[in-house]
Amino acid sequence: MKTLWVYAHPDPRSLNGALRDHGVAVLREHGHDVRESDLYAMDWDPVVRHDDFGCDPDSRLDVLTESQRALENGTLRADIRAEHDKLRWADTLVVQFPLWWFGMPAILKGWFDRLFVQGFAQGVLDPTTGRARRYGDGGLTGKRAMVITTVGANAATTGPRGIHGELDEVLFPLTHGTLWYPGMTVVPPFVVTSALAMTDDEYNETAKRLTERLLTLPDTPPIPFRRQNGGDYDDHLVLRDEHARGETGIGIHNT
Ligand SMILES: Cc1cc2nc3c(=O)[nH]c(=O)nc-3n(C[C@H](O)[C@H](O)[C@H](O)COP(=O)(O)O)c2cc1C
Repeated sequence: MKTLWVYAHPDPRSLNGALRDHGVAVLREHGHDVRESDLYAMDWDPVVRHDDFGCDPDSRLDVLTESQRALENGTLRADIRAEHDKLRWADTLVVQFPLWWFGMPAILKGWFDRLFVQGFAQGVLDPTTGRARRYGDGGLTGKRAMVITTVGANAATTGPRGIHGELDEVLFPLTHGTLWYPGMTVVPPFVVTSALAMTDDEYNETAKRLTERLLTLPDTPPIPFRRQNGGDYDDHLVLRDEHARGETGIGIHNT
């Protein structure tokens, strides 16, 4: 594998830091290439600005249009171009973070905001149909993605009837809306619950579990999200009545 490991935690001495060091070492020991984006260590700027696209700061900014123009002209800001090169190189993307307010830390959200510009990840058209390639097909087709996240809450309260909502559903905006949308194959997330107070034994067990997940990543069955252009959705991109009949909500987008 050629893995880009994107990591968002302010302190390398954290649980996340330990799991990142462990995971990267395991991959390298098994002959895989790993490149890293340690967003805090890089002092990554998470904010989209006129300057990303070389636009006059006093002009009205149409982010989608200007980002595509700058992508095509090779004039995106240098830090975005450097991350694009890493992502083009990778066949596997690992995205690791502590769950903060039911989502990614802002620095990581801003990595996606600034990188996944129109024409690169999304807004890529099928030349024959003119239809947007999305959800299972797009600018990042051919790459695999896995989310690693640590969560303060326990397994029961993040389970199917837990008060925090089921974690697969909490992560849906990332797994489905951000990774599957531009065409990546997304495997089930690696989740560490009860992450606030972990014994040494629990850490060792978690590290072992992570080793297994990383070494089986190329063959792990993906989350069975439905493809936009696979026939399950009608021309208005609404799921046809014959699928998940009478059901609504996030779960209907899995086959
Ligand atoms: C700003 C912030 C927001 C958090 N939000 C959540 C949350 O929404 N759900 C949850 O279960 N834990 C939440 N936590 C707990 C973190 O997930 C937990 O501290 C982290 O996973 C532990 O890993 P670390 O030691 O590597 O930081 C939050 C923590 C912080 C600091």
